[in-house]
Amino acid sequence: MKVWAIANQKGGVGKTTTTVNLAGLLAISGNPTLIIDLDPQGSLTSYMGYNPDIIEKSAYQLFQGRVGNPASFMLETGISNLDLLPASSALATLDRQLGAQLGKGLVIKNFLDSIRENYSHVLIDCPPVVGMLLVNAIAASDTLILPVQTEYLALKGLERMVNTIQMIERSRKREIPYLVVPTMFDQRTRASMDAIRQLQEFYSSHLWNGVVPVDTLFRDASRLGVPLTLWNTRARGSEAYARLLRSLLATENAQRTAMMQEARSNAV
Ligand SMILES: Nc1ncnc2c1ncn2[C@@H]1O[C@H](COP(=O)(O)OP(=O)(O)O)[C@@H](O)[C@H]1O
Ligand SMILES: [Mg+2]
Repeated sequence: MKVWAIANQKGGVGKTTTTVNLAGLLAISGNPTLIIDLDPQGSLTSYMGYNPDIIEKSAYQLFQGRVGNPASFMLETGISNLDLLPASSALATLDRQLGAQLGKGLVIKNFLDSIRENYSHVLIDCPPVVGMLLVNAIAASDTLILPVQTEYLALKGLERMVNTIQMIERSRKREIPYLVVPTMFDQRTRASMDAIRQLQEFYSSHLWNGVVPVDTLFRDASRLGVPLTLWNTRARGSEAYARLLRSLLATENAQRTAMMQEARSNAV
């Protein structure tokens, strides 16, 4: 099982869109996939057709320590191979309740450890605030995907996000690989071109070598409650996410091969 958290402290940069579209592609190619909504606003939950205000079992109960049967948290999405662990509005109260409690940073990781055999991929849609939920998502993830809107001041939000990651890396004593994904790219605008140039200058080693273009079909797909990547596979936006997924999976395969080689050479 591989866990990818989709994070950025800024709202409206394409986190939920990235989660939905990558997950749709994974599921359709036969990978049992789980999407987790850790944003108290519940956009991902709504996208999948559920109302976060009336959800009974959500990520919130995990933090209350009321786990029981993990399968009872999962909701169907209408897409085969794709399950949803929903958000509920109660998530918004967690930081106040648990703020002072230590040891709550691994709630999501521990839960995922208990369902490791059930999914090949888990994608976590993160809230746009630094707090308990974001820390949990980062601590649970193998790779972070950071969507960045290609506009003025794009780098400001990203800098803060990377600082947060480094803080968690220090306390976990483990490196957390991250990939910056430029979104809503419009090559006709100066702001988009400038943002790409700046990302190349400051984040080249973490930057995906493609872009997700502006595509109004994303909004239409979200109104219909389906991933654009499944609804219109030829859309420019869909092709971009297909390319992003291929590159994420290629990196994963390369890591696996390297690990196997290391294990073999240690055995000799
Ligand atoms: N590449 C894109 N082109 C055009 N609109 C997009 C694109 N990506 C996302 N959107 C739209 O922008 C809005 C914010 O995206 P969303 O994924 O909800 O951001 P976040 O989860 O970071 O708040 C949504 O209405 C979504 O449909
Ligand atoms: Mg969102």
